[in-house]
Amino acid sequence: MKILRLPGEMHAVRDSLRGTPVVTGLVPTMGYLHEGHVSLLEAARERCDRVVMSLFVNPAQFRPDEDLDQYPRDEERDFAIAEKAGVDFVYAPDPEGVYPAGFATRVEVEGLTEVLCGDRQWRGREHFTGVTTVVSKLLNAVDPDFAFFGQKDAQQATVIARMAEDLEFRTEIVVLPTVRERDGLAMSSRNAYLSAPARERASAIWSALLETEALYPQEGLDAALAAGRHRLEAAGIRPEYFEARHPGTLDPAGDDPDQAILVAVAADVEGTRLIDNILIEPDRQARRK
Ligand code: PAF
Repeated sequence: MKILRLPGEMHAVRDSLRGTPVVTGLVPTMGYLHEGHVSLLEAARERCDRVVMSLFVNPAQFRPDEDLDQYPRDEERDFAIAEKAGVDFVYAPDPEGVYPAGFATRVEVEGLTEVLCGDRQWRGREHFTGVTTVVSKLLNAVDPDFAFFGQKDAQQATVIARMAEDLEFRTEIVVLPTVRERDGLAMSSRNAYLSAPARERASAIWSALLETEALYPQEGLDAALAAGRHRLEAAGIRPEYFEARHPGTLDPAGDDPDQAILVAVAADVEGTRLIDNILIEPDRQARRK
């Protein structure tokens, strides 16, 4: 496994593979890898001849009051995990390499970034502009055939897929299921911040989503969402949002058992912001008749 620190080194690898039949996969990460990342790396390994993992804690997607400085980092551990998962190249540039002096470009997706986490009262759409700006730089630097993202960040994946299509990137965006702890909590690098009691309470997020899924067919959407919110509040967790949306457009979902719906949640647990979601497919909804 080779570690590349400079954009020029990444470009040299990219250029050496251009025009060859080699299939390249990119797994973008901010490091502090967990099993969710490993599942993306393994999927990339299975599908591609060359696997590139990027490791870059992207300052542009943090708000000034967010945890950029405290964001958990352990490069040596990440390199060992990546090597074990069969990564060929780790692209780990410095902020100055990604955003050199004079850097002045922002890649912004409209609409999809203004709801849920993009709502001004939560992270704001600037967060997603930071994500789409860095991901478009990574797609250009690596030029992969496939790029792999997790369903836990469903809104991020939707925004990136929109951007890739709108800007005619030749990369296919692949979204893979959320990997969970035994009690259902979605794997996240930020789980490391939770104290033991908060960690236990956080499992209510997945229980609330499951309860909503279970109640929806018989009780209807509003009642099912209310029950999910109640389950969270009973565990002492006040959600920022707990909402049903259409998966592709992120428009508010109506009570229509023939449509897939995405129930998405963000909640502050002891000062740590956690997100999760459940995709309820029409065939998993017993008909209300
Ligand atoms: O999901 C993440 O870890 C980040 O948002 C990403 C996609 C690596 C961009 O910095």
